[in-house]
Amino acid sequence: MDIFNDITAIQNITYIVASILFISGIKMLGKEDTAVKGNFLSALAMFIAVSVTLVDIVNPMVLIGGIAVGAVIGSTIALKVKMTSIPEMVALFNGFGGLATFLIAWSEFNSVPDNLFQHVLVMTTLYIGGVTFTGSLIAYAKLAEKIKIAKTSLITKFFTTIFYISLVFLSYSIFVTPLIDTSFDFFNVLLILTLLGGIGFVLPIGGGDMPVVISLLNSFSGIAAAFAGLLLLNNVLIVAGSLVGASGLILTVIMAKAMNRSINNILFVGYASSSSKSSSSEEQGEVSPISVSDAYLILESASSVLIIPGYGMAVAQAQHVVRELGELLEENGTEVKYGIHPVAGRMPGHMNVLLAEANVPYDVLAEPDDINPIMDSVDVAVVIGANDVVNPSATEEPGSPIYGMPIIEVHNAKTVFVLKRSMSAGFAGVQNPLFFKQNTRMLFGDAKESIGGLVSEFKD
Ligand code: TAP
Repeated sequence: MDIFNDITAIQNITYIVASILFISGIKMLGKEDTAVKGNFLSALAMFIAVSVTLVDIVNPMVLIGGIAVGAVIGSTIALKVKMTSIPEMVALFNGFGGLATFLIAWSEFNSVPDNLFQHVLVMTTLYIGGVTFTGSLIAYAKLAEKIKIAKTSLITKFFTTIFYISLVFLSYSIFVTPLIDTSFDFFNVLLILTLLGGIGFVLPIGGGDMPVVISLLNSFSGIAAAFAGLLLLNNVLIVAGSLVGASGLILTVIMAKAMNRSINNILFVGYASSSSKSSSSEEQGEVSPISVSDAYLILESASSVLIIPGYGMAVAQAQHVVRELGELLEENGTEVKYGIHPVAGRMPGHMNVLLAEANVPYDVLAEPDDINPIMDSVDVAVVIGANDVVNPSATEEPGSPIYGMPIIEVHNAKTVFVLKRSMSAGFAGVQNPLFFKQNTRMLFGDAKESIGGLVSEFKD
């Protein structure tokens, strides 16, 4: 065995070690208390994989320079980003992953042997990478509210048409061009159509559905990386790309299921037209408001309280006062739990992240399946800026756009406090019959102020 074969064997063994670390890291990300370690393990795996790749590179300084520039930019962004802007950051990072594979496929186009499999691989990698790149930029811009272009506008229709044309062109470039001899420059046209097509893929999708789209684009970037691994015959790229592709797809499906929507509905239809507006979009009777001081008196005598945070808690940045209230209730002898819905907020794990930031212990967080069966024993359910995830129409009203979505059934608790600023609807745009139930009291106002008021009452 010569020295080069030895190096290749060592590289491949190290790639297997890196792959095992990637898989263990991802598994650890599934639980809050091991997530930080899992993240570290995956980063270490990436470091090992990159280092061992450098060993037989002719000019490693170019790669090291690239890594250094990337590391400085990446860590500066990651350190600066606000917790609530993580989805935007993930969108951008996915986009650059897509761009990298797009560039790899482009550079491989001229060097590959005349072989149909390689040709299909180059074209598909180029397409998925390019669509992921521009699609992710649009997802970022939509989420950060940097662009507001209506779904029905001419611009959207133009780019959507290009997206469909790019798909047809891709099929043509894959299956027809290798068989015919033509002077027409299919490749360069495909390059342009791919980049414009990515814009057309994401532009018609509503801003609120962006987290699901970002998860799907994340999966695309993984698939593109796995294809690039096949092109470059790099095992660790195939493994890491497949892991990202599969986990992104699983997350997309979980999110769509938790919203009771199909991926097709999210990508091509949207909430507004997913069904006719149900009767629940109108107000359904009188609501019973409550003041902070009256709410305090009820909480003070409660023996069990369930706190259900939602998007409004993130808007109000109320997580720290919520933790304070939870602690004061516990000091008062009340059993406190937090009901966490999988799609509460606007990104996967949104509530878990906010509550972890405020140092709420993991063991008081409960999932809908654990708390719904014992809801009738809860004295007070405190709904903080949540709306759709506690909307009983999802279980009671077959015509509702959210019918079938699993919810936290707070309406079965003895008393419900709903903290929000007005009677306006949540993300799905439907009214919530919970607000009109006899056991519900509305505590109107900004969640941080209302909870702050309750905290002050407890302290006085
Ligand atoms: P929503 O249904 O969006 O309701 C949030 C409520 O918070 C609103 O009704 C709003 O009412 C209130 N609010 C806003 N700012 C507030 C503030 N400063 N103080 C107090 N209340 C405030 O939220 P949810 O129950 O968390 O449900 C999430 C929705 O997003 C679901 O429909 C889900 O399908 C969708 N979604 C989730 C995800 C993920 S992955 N989490 C991704 C895409 C879509 P006021 O304006 O009256 O205050």
